[in-house]
Amino acid sequence: MAQHRSPWDPYTSGARFYDLLSGEVFYRAGRVAGIAMLGPQPGEVVLDVGCGTGLNFERLTTAVGPTGRVIGLDRSEHMLRVAHDRIDRNRWTNVSLVRADATCFTADQLPADHINAVLATYALSVTGDPDAAWRRIKSVAKPGARVCVVDMQKPTGWAQVFTPLARLACSMGRSDIEAKPWQLLQRDARQVQVRSLRGGHIQAACGTMP
Ligand SMILES: C[S@@+](CC[C@H](N)C(=O)[O-])C[C@H]1O[C@@H](n2cnc3c(N)ncnc32)[C@H](O)[C@@H]1O
Repeated sequence: MAQHRSPWDPYTSGARFYDLLSGEVFYRAGRVAGIAMLGPQPGEVVLDVGCGTGLNFERLTTAVGPTGRVIGLDRSEHMLRVAHDRIDRNRWTNVSLVRADATCFTADQLPADHINAVLATYALSVTGDPDAAWRRIKSVAKPGARVCVVDMQKPTGWAQVFTPLARLACSMGRSDIEAKPWQLLQRDARQVQVRSLRGGHIQAACGTMP
């Protein structure tokens, strides 16, 4: 029997509304913390995995400067179209977009030989296979590269009362609230730091590839 799929998909038909509906007032804290922990430097190349509409680009382009490069990778052409408009509007010349699946992309799809840092904000839990995406990230993040994963889980402690809201937000974004993809980074990276935000709902982990 054919599977019924709603015509509304947050990353295709909904892409134009993503910035409005993504709860940026609440979730910005995760990207700000993650980018601060990642510490992109002038001249560096940063890969933004599952970049979506490019909400990380402003902070990343400012940090890497004109001699650096930001590479946004996403599988949705609709999200990338919005990201492209953002790049044009801001006249950023140091951002490239790559349409690829995070669970199976390869280094030769990227417009740079060397990646200094990788960021994935609220993306790995949406891929359907965070382990596969993490293996691809490890394959392009050479020893010494920094990697930061920001993602969501059920709130903890006193904030557990907000679990139904957190579940709703994750299901609207098709995110697996149980995926906890930062734990892959904790397992494989070195000098890992973790920050817990918004009642534990947002976790940001950053480390260096061995
Ligand atoms: C919740 S949005 C996060 C976007 C952005 N990182 C942010 O912080 O606003 C998840 C993004 O992951 C992308 N995505 C989901 N699965 C993917 C996959 N397998 N490969 C590449 N991108 C994927 C979606 O298209 C979407 O743009």
